[in-house]
Amino acid sequence: MSDFLELAARRQSCRSFSGARVERDKLTKCVEAGRLAPSGCNGQPWSFVVVDDPGKVAGIAKCGQVFGNNAFTDKAGAFIVVLEEHAELMPALREMLDSQFFAKGDIGGAVVNICLEAADLGLGTCIIGLYNREKIAKLLDLPREQRFGALIAVGCPADGTIRPKVRKPLEETVRYV
Ligand SMILES: Cc1cc2nc3c(=O)[nH]c(=O)nc-3n(C[C@H](O)[C@H](O)[C@H](O)COP(=O)(O)O)c2cc1C
Repeated sequence: MSDFLELAARRQSCRSFSGARVERDKLTKCVEAGRLAPSGCNGQPWSFVVVDDPGKVAGIAKCGQVFGNNAFTDKAGAFIVVLEEHAELMPALREMLDSQFFAKGDIGGAVVNICLEAADLGLGTCIIGLYNREKIAKLLDLPREQRFGALIAVGCPADGTIRPKVRKPLEETVRYV
């Protein structure tokens, strides 16, 4: 059995890609990991667009380079665009909650699964928080009203150094009662 905590520590935001392409079967495994994530009422409010055509990859990279950030994505091998889709909630909840009530959290889980699977396959990922949704919609032929969940750059890390994690201490973030 692989050591999950070791994998969680090894997954890191990669900001130095080699520029190599990423095999499609590895990208499919990443999406499969995302698809297996839990979601409120099993609503699965997501779909995934895997961008691995070099011309389109270059175009999507530019969409995430806002305020002068994220130039490193020029060397990403692919992007996974997570789209937010309609979630069907349980009938009992439909009266009380908006259909998308759990969606952001659900998508967060899917994104983490994708990044962990990528790390397990030796790939690097970086979640890109700010991006030009309109330009991405145009590039990918999506309707203008499409809701976006996340943009993830995927690629081959240029070097294998694993940085120590910068996190609040465990004692400050947990209490047992
Ligand atoms: C919602 C979200 C948006 C992020 N956006 C960016 C980004 O635009 N550029 C970037 O270099 N890193 C981005 N990151 C990566 C975070 O900076 C990183 O996860 C955090 O510093 C912890 O480092 P680690 O991922 O290496 O453990 C983002 C992460 C999340 C979860």
